[in-house]
Amino acid sequence: MSEGKNLVGVDIGTSSVKICQLKETRKGPRLVKLGFSPLPRQTIVDGHVLNAQAVVEALNRTFAEAKIKDRDIALSISGQAVIIRKITVPMMTAAELDEQIQWEAEQHIPFDIKDVHVDYEVLRRRPEAGQMDLLLVAAKREEVNDYTEIARQARLRPVVVDIDAFTVQNLFEFNRGLPPEQTFAIINVGASLASINIVSKGVSAFTRDIANGGNYITEQIQKQLGVPFEQAEEFKVMASVAPHQVSPQVASVIDSVCDSIAGEIQRSLDFFHATSGEPEMHRIFLTGGSSNLSQLLNAIGRRARVGVELIPPLEKIAVEGKDVNAQLLQSRAAQLCVALGLSMRKDKERRL
Ligand SMILES: Nc1ncnc2c1ncn2[C@@H]1O[C@H](COP(=O)(O)OP(=O)(O)OP(=O)(O)O)[C@@H](O)[C@H]1O
Ligand SMILES: [Mg+2]
Repeated sequence: MSEGKNLVGVDIGTSSVKICQLKETRKGPRLVKLGFSPLPRQTIVDGHVLNAQAVVEALNRTFAEAKIKDRDIALSISGQAVIIRKITVPMMTAAELDEQIQWEAEQHIPFDIKDVHVDYEVLRRRPEAGQMDLLLVAAKREEVNDYTEIARQARLRPVVVDIDAFTVQNLFEFNRGLPPEQTFAIINVGASLASINIVSKGVSAFTRDIANGGNYITEQIQKQLGVPFEQAEEFKVMASVAPHQVSPQVASVIDSVCDSIAGEIQRSLDFFHATSGEPEMHRIFLTGGSSNLSQLLNAIGRRARVGVELIPPLEKIAVEGKDVNAQLLQSRAAQLCVALGLSMRKDKERRL
């Protein structure tokens, strides 16, 4: 890992704020602080913050409850605010690329280039073809500014702004490494989004966000049983923690919605196979709050016909018991990958 002090990882998701702080030790990183606060419904819709004050309050509360004093943070954004494209450009030096990248971005990004932050990563150099492959990332300035402004209102200093999918990939890479010969998908199913990142031969080869997640499951239970959202949410969570206590009707709604989300995911995987010429998918790794539902895991596995497993977020990160609420950690583990990935970022590294 690079030099510097760990930033506090702050994941502002649709359903909740998740905060992690790591401390680097000689034996590797240790989780020293953990915070979680639910957000009221409609606070964030489709990635847009509709109620900034509610997020500021949740941030203040979570930092206080988790007893975190440091104010330097890493944030991330996702969904419609971000466009990621794999592009091919002629071989050039880093200096030439820095100059050229805005022009390249204009060719590939369907927004006015003035409205986006552009960044890139060189995926592969292919001198024999005189070409190189880049991962081009454009993040809408307005969204980035909304999130950083909210953080500042909560007296925090955003030092790094990352992308959800890449923070999860970084955490995964730290825990497991990226097998150089394999193709696998990392899928984060949260409340409003299912984001897919296909990693092939050690680099991100395809990313796509699907505008469906756990809220969609809850809304369908709400609609089909005629119960309030909160009640539907309780039924859904019960299906993962005490499945035998769930009525057949609830179980059947969950089954059918999970199957439809899995179908959408599969369409993206098929699209990747068709366009990349990469025939195989070796494994799927699932995370995000909705991965608590075994129905979703099974539905994805049935469609993709490969093994699906959950990402254990803390495989190589020890936990310091003193300030970390063990029950919170256990019940929210699936929701922590983005915040954990962010908390691995350092204050001295390159920013987005
Ligand atoms: N035990 C559980 N069983 C079923 N669903 C759960 C469970 N715990 C959390 N969820 C669902 O997970 C979702 C929240 O997950 P997560 O925290 O990863 O999303 P988010 O980051 O807030 O949202 P997004 O990433 O979409 O903006 C909610 O829809 C919630 O109902
Ligand atoms: Mg999320």
